[in-house]
Amino acid sequence: MKCQKELFNLNPDLTYLNCAYMSPQLKTVTETGIRALLRKEDPTSIFPVDFFEPTEQLRSLFATMIEADDPKRIVTIPSVSYGMAIVSRNISLNADDEILVVGEQFPSNIYPWTRLAKEKGAKLLTVPSPPPMEGRGDKWNLDILDAIGPATRIIAIPHVHWADGTFFDLLSISQKAKSFGALLIVDGTQSVGALPFSVKKVQPDALICAGYKWLMGPYSLGLAYLGPAFDEGFPLEENWINRLNSEDFGGLVRYQEDYQPGSLRYEVGEHSNFILVPMLTQALRQIQEWGVENIQEYLLGIGKAPLQRLRDKGVWVEKEGAFSPHLFGIAMPDLAQAKEKLLQNKVHVSYRGHFVRVSPHVYNREEDLQRLVDILLGGG
Ligand SMILES: Cc1ncc(COP(=O)(O)O)c(C=O)c1O
Repeated sequence: MKCQKELFNLNPDLTYLNCAYMSPQLKTVTETGIRALLRKEDPTSIFPVDFFEPTEQLRSLFATMIEADDPKRIVTIPSVSYGMAIVSRNISLNADDEILVVGEQFPSNIYPWTRLAKEKGAKLLTVPSPPPMEGRGDKWNLDILDAIGPATRIIAIPHVHWADGTFFDLLSISQKAKSFGALLIVDGTQSVGALPFSVKKVQPDALICAGYKWLMGPYSLGLAYLGPAFDEGFPLEENWINRLNSEDFGGLVRYQEDYQPGSLRYEVGEHSNFILVPMLTQALRQIQEWGVENIQEYLLGIGKAPLQRLRDKGVWVEKEGAFSPHLFGIAMPDLAQAKEKLLQNKVHVSYRGHFVRVSPHVYNREEDLQRLVDILLGGG
């Protein structure tokens, strides 16, 4: 795969290494959005079938991306917090149960659990991050595995940590979770789209993703996979379109007790969203065309030499294999100074916890990362 910069409208005066904050919009996604926006100027151009089919296409694309057999297990959500609310309100919990999370997770995958734990008198157990050191990721993964036991009822974690890119070994975590009957709830926001994920292999009970980062879609539309554990649950809202036979607009007041099949009862109201759905669909088509494996390989290639330069100078970056090349933390001894230098040089990254968080994508080249390293090591 080669650099795909020409597919984006990036500002040539700056170096954008911050997809974990928000992806830049593909030109084709912008064009799709404009066409979709204009469509409602003539409401007769929007047919009943348009309330259903575009979302079905979107679900199918996402199901393929995450290796889920049934697209009806995919639901559209406006945010991760919405997806986590569906999940957290549909799990029964006892006072002696534990909910396991990792240190400094993104709040949308913390607050629902602190609330649930409080309501039920259950325990929220945090597996803290080890300090930046050799083998940090391995240690963190071992600590998580050690923490899973008979009291564990829910494990709510990401695939990679949003602040430093630590890669969590979901296969081993899932295996251990299942051996104790615990549910695995994954926040895939900072990984799905850039790091392969397989529902078949990991077998999560839920996978919740915002759409505006690695799925390259617009803000306010995300996607979730919900497994059989939620088949009999209650949605957050009782939406007409999620009820059986809602395709029959003439029969909507023959009120239905039953929901649409699979997980579709949970879809957000007005999921047909005539603007955002086609935009996210176009973005997923592009990612599918590139191939997530190829994105990984490309990013691994452009990051290798620059990251080694940092390690050679004694700056801590996780070892290869313990993070995904699309998102990594650099532990600069003086974070404030690093920030000032990068801002002065118009290099856009994020600063999370103790780390400069760097998140390249296929519009970046090795030279972008070399430039970042030059500046961090004092040459820029
Ligand atoms: C790991 C992770 N989860 C979720 C979100 C977004 O959450 P929400 O969609 O609830 O705003 C972010 C945003 O940065 C994130 O990094």
